[in-house]
Amino acid sequence: MAPSDNNVMPSLSSCLRLLLLAVTQVNGLTYTSPSVLPSPPTEGLGGWDAALSEAQSFVSQLTLEEKQNMVTGVKGPCVGNIAPISRLGFKGLCFQDGPLAIRQATNASVFPAGLSAAATWDNDLIEARGAALAREFKDKGSHVLLGPVAGPLGRSALGGRNWEGFSPDPYLTGLAFARTIKGIQDTGVQACIKHIIGYEQETQRFPSKVDGVEIKAINSNIDDRTIHELYLWPFADGVKQGAASAMSSYNRINGTYAAENSKVLNGLLKEELGFQGYVVSDWGGTYSGAPSVNAGLDMEMPGGEIFGSHIGKDIDKGAYKMSRLDDMIVRVMTPYYFLNQNKGFPSVDPSSADIVGFDGSDNPHGFDLSGSSYRNVRRDHAILIRQIGSDGAVLLKNTNHALPLSKPKEIGVFGYDADAFPMSNGQPELIRDSPYGYKNGSLPTAGGSGAGRFSYVVSPLSAIQAKAHEYGAHVQSVIKHSDIIPDKFKLDTVPDVCLVFIKSWATEGADRLSLDADFDGNLVVEKVAAVCDNTVVISHSVGPNLMDFADNENVTAIIASHLPGQEIGNSIVDILWGAVNPSGKLPYTIAHKASDYNGPIANVSNPTTADAFESTFTEGLMIDYRHFDHSKIKPRYEFGFGLSYTTFSIKDLDVQNAYDGHISARPPSAKTQPGGNPHLYDTIFHITCTVYNTGSVKGKAVPQLYISLPSSAPDGTPAQALRGYNKVSIGAHESTKVTFSVLRKHISYWDVTAQDWVIPKGKIDLRVGFSSRDVQASHSIAAIA
Ligand code: BGC
Repeated sequence: MAPSDNNVMPSLSSCLRLLLLAVTQVNGLTYTSPSVLPSPPTEGLGGWDAALSEAQSFVSQLTLEEKQNMVTGVKGPCVGNIAPISRLGFKGLCFQDGPLAIRQATNASVFPAGLSAAATWDNDLIEARGAALAREFKDKGSHVLLGPVAGPLGRSALGGRNWEGFSPDPYLTGLAFARTIKGIQDTGVQACIKHIIGYEQETQRFPSKVDGVEIKAINSNIDDRTIHELYLWPFADGVKQGAASAMSSYNRINGTYAAENSKVLNGLLKEELGFQGYVVSDWGGTYSGAPSVNAGLDMEMPGGEIFGSHIGKDIDKGAYKMSRLDDMIVRVMTPYYFLNQNKGFPSVDPSSADIVGFDGSDNPHGFDLSGSSYRNVRRDHAILIRQIGSDGAVLLKNTNHALPLSKPKEIGVFGYDADAFPMSNGQPELIRDSPYGYKNGSLPTAGGSGAGRFSYVVSPLSAIQAKAHEYGAHVQSVIKHSDIIPDKFKLDTVPDVCLVFIKSWATEGADRLSLDADFDGNLVVEKVAAVCDNTVVISHSVGPNLMDFADNENVTAIIASHLPGQEIGNSIVDILWGAVNPSGKLPYTIAHKASDYNGPIANVSNPTTADAFESTFTEGLMIDYRHFDHSKIKPRYEFGFGLSYTTFSIKDLDVQNAYDGHISARPPSAKTQPGGNPHLYDTIFHITCTVYNTGSVKGKAVPQLYISLPSSAPDGTPAQALRGYNKVSIGAHESTKVTFSVLRKHISYWDVTAQDWVIPKGKIDLRVGFSSRDVQASHSIAAIA
C-alpha cells in the first residue's frame, strides 16, 4: 500500500487539533507528521497512583527556578544530572550509560550485549541480566540506566548500533525489552527505553554544515502500519512493563525531529500507549524549546542550552502553561517515588565523576560526592555473564560431531580475535580513523556509549590455554593475520583441531561498511582450512556476517558467539569442550550474499540542501526474515536457527480457544493502560505441544511459534511472524510439555483507516518448530470466521 494512503489517518476528534507540521515528499509519496496537542498529563496509571500523589506534593513546593532545573540537565558527576534541591531533601538524579554496563564507572562488570542476550532466547536469563546490571548501577549511585535499546531495531544489517538492542524481530525484541526492564526496575533503578523512534542508521544522525548550509539529520520516512507493527511494537511492551523513562532519538521521523515530534511523543507514546513516565532527549538531540515541550519532551539532556531559564520566559509568552511544566516534573518524580529512590539510595561513586570529568571543587549545585570511591560492584556477576555468553552462542555448523571437542592433544588457535587487547582506562585502544576499532584482541563488546569499561577480560586464548593445561594438551597459536594470509603459511604440526577466531566491530556514530569479518577474517579462515581439515570457526560479531567459508568441507564447525562480555574466553571454552550444550538461536538472518539484505543505509556524498538525507522505509514490514520469506530468498542460516549437541522433535500440537464468547475484529473499547488498550493483551488461543529430546545428552530447546494471517489481511502482510517462544531444558530421551498463549495483538494487523488493531477474517496458520524454516507441527484456526 502506498505510504501516502496509510501514513497517518487520525480520528475525527483528533482531526480538530491537527495541524500539519512537516511534509516530506519522496518519489511522489507524501510522509507527514501531524501535530498532536496538547501533551497528555500523566495519571499515575499502572499502579503508580500513590507515587503520583507524592510527586504532585513535591512539585507543589518548588519555585520556578527549581522547576526549570528539574527538567534540564546540568554538569555533574554522571553523564546526565538533575541537580539536588537540598531544602527538600532531594539529592538529584544520576543518569549513566548504558545497556550492557555502567560505562562511567570502574570496578564494574561488562555484560554480554543485547544481541547476545537475545540470542539466548531465554527470558529468565534476560531478566537476570537486567537485574544484575541494575544492582551495579544502584551500588554506584545511578538512578537511571540509559537502556535497554529497541531503536535501532535492525532494519539494516549494517546498522552501527543494532547490537545494543536485541533483534530485528519486534516480538523477540519486545519480550527481551520488557524482561530487561522488569529486572532493572525490580532492583529499584529506572530504565530509560531508547531511542524512540526510527533511529535505524548512524550516518548523518546529527545535522551537519556544508558550505554554510545546515544539512538536517537523517529523516526516516515510515508509514503508519510499519511504525505500529515493527518499530513501535517493542516500545509498547516496554511501556506495558512500566518503563520509567523514554529517550527520543536524534533523527527526524516523517519530516520532524523526534524530540519535537508530537505525533510520536504525545500521540503514539503518551496517548496511544499510555506512557506514564518522562521523555528525555538524547544527548544534544533537542532542537527547539517550546515546540519540543508542547510535543511531549519532558527533559533536556545534557541540558542548559534550550530548556533552563527559557522555560519561564516561554510560559510568560504563553507558549505553554505552567501546568505543562508541572506535568513534566510529575512525570520525572512519579517513577522516582514508585521505585523508592527517595529512600536510602546510595550516593554517586566519586570515581564516576572523574570519568565524566566533573571537578568536585566546582560544584555549584551541591552534588553529594561524599561516598566511597572505586566501589567494587561486580559481586558474583561473572557467573551469569559467563552463562549468558555461552547460551548466546549459536552453533551453525557441526559436521562429523566435530564439537564438542574430545580432549584434543594438539590445539591450534588463530586470529586477532583470540587474543587479549591492549587496554587503556579499561577500554580497548581504538585505531584512529579505523572503521574496524582495533586489530589486536578479541571482541567482548563493540563501541560507543553502549560499551563498557573493563576490569578484566578473559581472552579466548588464555581460557583455551587454561583448559588445555587441565588435561595436558598443547596449544600453538598464530595471532597476527599478516602471518596467516601470505601464501607461505603452513603449520609444522597440523593440530587435531584449528580454532579460528574472527570478529566484526561496529560503533555508535558509524554504520558497518561491510558484512565481512574485519581484517580479512574470512581469508584467514580459508588459509587455515587449507592446511587443517578440522577447522572450527568462532565469530565475535555485532550482527549478521557473510560466511562463504561455511561451504568449505574442512570447516567442520561454526559458532556465532556475538558479543559475550568480559568472560568471552570462558564462555566459548564451555561450548567448545561441551560443559555447556549450545542452545543459542539466531536473532537475525544470515544471508548468502550482501545483496540478499534490504533496508539500505541512506548516504549522500555531497549534500547541498537541508533535506538531503532521506531514508524511506519502502520495504514496510519486510525486514530480516520477513523480507527473505517475501522475496523468496534462501538464507544461509535462517532466523531462529541454531544446533545443539543433541536433537529435538515436536509432537502433539493442540490448539484451544481461550476466549469466552464472541471475538470482535477490533478490541472492545477500554480505558488506555500502559501498553495501550488492555484488550490487546487478551489471550485468544492456548497452544500446547510436546518437545522431545531425541538424542543422548541433556540440552535446551527453543520451540518457536510462527503465525501467518489469512489472505484477508491487507497487502504488505508478512508471510509469517514470530509470536511465541519458550526455552526448555530436557534430559536425554525425555520430553516436556510447552504452552504458548496467543494474544489478540499477535493475530491483528494495524488498520490505518480504523486506527486500530484488527483481527482479519479467516483461517490463521499456527506453526511450531525450531526456526523460521523448520516447521515441526502446524494447525489452522479462524478467530473470526
Ligand atoms: C547516545 C545515547 C546515550 C547518550 C549519553 C548519546 O549519544 O545516543 O544512547 O545514552 O549519548 O551517553
